[in-house]
Amino acid sequence: MSYIEKDFKYIWHPYTQMKDCEKYPNILLERAKGIKLYDDKGNFYYDIISSWWCNVHGHNHPKIKNAIKNQLNSLDHIMFAGFTHKSAIKLAEKLINVLDDKAITKIFFSDNGSTSVEVAIKMSMQYWYQKGKKNKKQFLCLDYGYHGDTIGTMSVSGIGFFNQKFSSLFYKVHRAKSPYCYRCPFKKKQESCIFECVKDMEQILIKNSKNIAGIILEPLVMGAGGMIIYPKEYLEKVGELAQKYNVHLILDEVATGFGRTGKIFAYKYTNIKPDFICISKGLTGGILPLAATFTTEKIYQAFYDDYEKLKTFYHGHTFTANPLSCASANASLEIFDEENYFEDEKKLKTISKILKYRLKSLKNNKIFKFIGDVRSIGMIGAIELVRDKKTKKSFEIKDRIGMKIYNEALKENLIMRPIGNIIYFYLPLCTSKRDLNKIFDKTEKVLFKIEKDI
Ligand SMILES: Cc1ncc(COP(=O)(O)O)c(C=O)c1O
Repeated sequence: MSYIEKDFKYIWHPYTQMKDCEKYPNILLERAKGIKLYDDKGNFYYDIISSWWCNVHGHNHPKIKNAIKNQLNSLDHIMFAGFTHKSAIKLAEKLINVLDDKAITKIFFSDNGSTSVEVAIKMSMQYWYQKGKKNKKQFLCLDYGYHGDTIGTMSVSGIGFFNQKFSSLFYKVHRAKSPYCYRCPFKKKQESCIFECVKDMEQILIKNSKNIAGIILEPLVMGAGGMIIYPKEYLEKVGELAQKYNVHLILDEVATGFGRTGKIFAYKYTNIKPDFICISKGLTGGILPLAATFTTEKIYQAFYDDYEKLKTFYHGHTFTANPLSCASANASLEIFDEENYFEDEKKLKTISKILKYRLKSLKNNKIFKFIGDVRSIGMIGAIELVRDKKTKKSFEIKDRIGMKIYNEALKENLIMRPIGNIIYFYLPLCTSKRDLNKIFDKTEKVLFKIEKDI
């Protein structure tokens, strides 16, 4: 039996209708370098979605590999209660410095994006409880938001076919309308927009803030909701609302963190003051699992007391702050320093300009009748496909447009996994101009084929 046959026999893959694998078997990857992945048949693929939005400096970066090897020679894994280790301490100090936000002084490690969000939600709720505001236990989120696949994070995400079957298990949240400008929920054109979506959120706060612990959202880019890129002014206004109505501001930077939007963290495009910031994916350079939740001294102090007061934060995961993961994260941050990403944003700006330009050219190309919208920020770009540009009618699930694109893209050496009708690019920071232009030449070919096919 071949590896692929055994894969089909034994493994249930995530986000996969396994029946599809009969016709489209998984691809057996054997090695990776930089932005490219190589399969067992010698084919290569551009990893234009950074292996689920996490790879930062390219695959198999020698510095990260060496750091992991060195760590393995001394300390593999320990429990992180009662014990600590140098790689975690070094990482915590570096992250707090990189974040450079006076109010944020503490970091709580965990092991994946969903748990970093769960930690923020639980800390926020426990904070209010310990401050005597026991009613503040609901959350305000966005109707296209996505924060993970655990019950707790699905509860604060938008409801769609991913999670609706579990909705009876969700806790009480308020969902505000998202700043989805292309499909403005208030039918406004950009010129006449007066941030009706902020008003929608404020209405919820006016009625419910005494019961709301915090607002949670993804800063600037709502990833799984459809690569919705929204104006920084919206985020600024949400920051103001959080202050005005005395609720926590929880920023989910799991996908946007570590340079992807052109700044180290997306919220740095603004001056807002978050109470919690959740990070994961790119933290280790996208090599090993690790996550963290930043918070403020004010929140921390509400838990810091004599043991018998029972204010401890009783939460932890077996692989919290795993030393190999921390070593990988330290190496990744050193690469940020060496490449001067923090000081000199020009490097990313050049790629991001080309990305914007190439996306616009696709949209302006009259041949493509199904490109409704293009949007981009930093290393992230999206093409929203529609059946009808005038009505913005989407393709239907039965059209399987995503699957068609995925298969055509593979033939062009691109790993493209559309979210519904949205093709997107989530490029590693190491993407060169040459790579990007090749990727777009190939994307054009894929779109030509799809145009003929639909
Ligand atoms: C914004 C955001 N938050 C949380 C998560 C969940 O992360 P994980 O898949 O590591 O649990 C994701 C994953 O895509 C994400 O995009």
